Amino acid sequence: MATLNFTLMTFRQPPDFTGKKNWQKPITLHPQKRQLTLPLATNSPQPVEQKPIIELEFIGPKAGGDGKYPVDRVTESSGEKVLRSIMEDNKLELYAAYGKLMNCGGGGSCGTCIVEVIDGKDLLSERTNAELKYLKKKPESWRLACQTIVGNKENSGKVVIQRLPQWKK
Ligand code: FES
Repeated sequence: MATLNFTLMTFRQPPDFTGKKNWQKPITLHPQKRQLTLPLATNSPQPVEQKPIIELEFIGPKAGGDGKYPVDRVTESSGEKVLRSIMEDNKLELYAAYGKLMNCGGGGSCGTCIVEVIDGKDLLSERTNAELKYLKKKPESWRLACQTIVGNKENSGKVVIQRLPQWKK
């Protein structure tokens, strides 16, 4: 354990062998040195292990009047959630009209939770069989949000996602 050493100086009056107190007598101070050792770690916070973090940017779904797409930013612990859950937790709309009504709830059996990975695809899980089935004829950058795990608990970085890429012109 780390310690902190310092010298404490105290002063005391020499003993009066007469037993009387003479308040007029000048006091001679005799410094005494004592070495103190205090443990440093008693109130020191223990180092906290930081979990790897993934930063996400969600673009869209539609451009505004100025032609710019709105961007929502979210951070998540690496490897803990799929994209669909992250979007739901942050109230980011994932589905187009049909998907809003008819999605399978994240089971990988409707193919309506499509997003496009603009950047950071290496930080995401591999395509699942459901994605291979529903996205067979779609661009390679498209993913099903309910199948895509963000991070692997060890990596960190930035992922950029286009919402509703099928609406992009
Ligand atoms: S929510 Fe149905 S496949 Fe993703």
